[in-house]
Amino acid sequence: MGKVYGELFSDEYQKSLIEQFCYGNEDPDYGHRLFFENSGGSLRLRRAVEAKAALEAFPDCPERNRGRGMEIGQKYVMGGTKDILETVFGAKSGALVTELSASQCMFHAVGAILEGVKWGTNTVTTLLEHPSAHDAVEYYAAKTGREFREVPANPATGGIEVEEVLKYVDKDTTLVSVMAASNISGNIMDIKEITRRVREINPEIYVVTDAVQHAPHAVIDVEDWGVDVCNFAPYKFFGVRGCGYAYVSDRVATLPHPKLTKKDANVWALGTPTPGNFAATMAVIDYVCKIGAHFLNETVTDRRTLFVEGMTRIHNQERGLLFRMLEGTEEVPGLRHIPGVEVYTDIEDLTKKDLIVAMGIKGMEFASISEAYLARGITVFERVRASIYSKRIVDTLGIPGAIRVSPLHCHGREEIDEYLKVTAEIAKAAGN
Ligand SMILES: Cc1ncc(COP(=O)(O)O)c(C=O)c1O
Repeated sequence: MGKVYGELFSDEYQKSLIEQFCYGNEDPDYGHRLFFENSGGSLRLRRAVEAKAALEAFPDCPERNRGRGMEIGQKYVMGGTKDILETVFGAKSGALVTELSASQCMFHAVGAILEGVKWGTNTVTTLLEHPSAHDAVEYYAAKTGREFREVPANPATGGIEVEEVLKYVDKDTTLVSVMAASNISGNIMDIKEITRRVREINPEIYVVTDAVQHAPHAVIDVEDWGVDVCNFAPYKFFGVRGCGYAYVSDRVATLPHPKLTKKDANVWALGTPTPGNFAATMAVIDYVCKIGAHFLNETVTDRRTLFVEGMTRIHNQERGLLFRMLEGTEEVPGLRHIPGVEVYTDIEDLTKKDLIVAMGIKGMEFASISEAYLARGITVFERVRASIYSKRIVDTLGIPGAIRVSPLHCHGREEIDEYLKVTAEIAKAAGN
């Protein structure tokens, strides 16, 4: 099929992956079900859940300088910090912000920049952002007396155009925040090009990117992108809830921020760290590296290289699944061909999309569509104007709302076909 339409794993390999997740296609109480709401919190890797539980069983303080406490601190807190920075973010310097959620990381980093940097009179973000990134800029722009500017999405593509961002940026812009991929349209933004072009206007501009929805689908590279802040949420990336992580560049790391006075200027952790969260995230990294190793020559041992290969394979598998969802096969029609089904912000070039589809069915309210799927064993979720998490986003996309369908790389041909057959049944029952 080639890179443009993705490259599906063999059925055997795909099945060996979904087996590593808890409740893959099976809910312990409800029985067979497809979990196609991974954008709201992904399937969990069994190893990640077990690693977290195993570490939680120890009472030892990870900040001790001897015994098990020291061992846990070194292996999981220091080791995990290095692993997340270098392997996931691809960082060569900078610092890690750890919090209870990705939103908290975002607010802290944006706050440190806008309160700590004295130059500039305006800030730029987009109407497509999740409230966590959008409102962080809005809040601190108001607090520091800066103008707050919002770039609209392109409703025809579902993304943010580089040229459009540039219309809102000038030499007095302090910070530009654009998400790496949309949690509703699935579009991937060209963060590298946005950074390059805004720094042509002013090389000092701080660039922030919310990668919460991109991290589980593709490679993040903060060095290549040239960003100052980038975050992700482990619970949306095969891992556990209760933590969020952000990379901050060296120049952001040492800006004034809440910290213990005697700690180094670039330390952002406040209070005792949680080894179990690091252990769970390291288990996710191990899993991705194993996928990389499966496809690479065994002489490759560099963890970042393995991780990049693993995420690239995941990305290609997901593009293959996306293509199958949209086009179907000779036996099972795809979303583009089922009477009554609407695919919102659909574009030909699937290299610009992560595996998230916004769709609707003519003649049906979004909530009833979700219910109809649930009754047939498929979990999806509606993103509608009544929700504060969705209104601004669906408005800028020019859509009435959407059913968000988000499978994961560990799903395969069978699951996509099952979803398509159920969709055709629901659309037909609605009179289409
Ligand atoms: C794109 C995006 N950014 C940020 C967040 C917020 O993540 P958290 O709830 O972990 O703060 C979400 C959650 O849905 C999201 O989709």
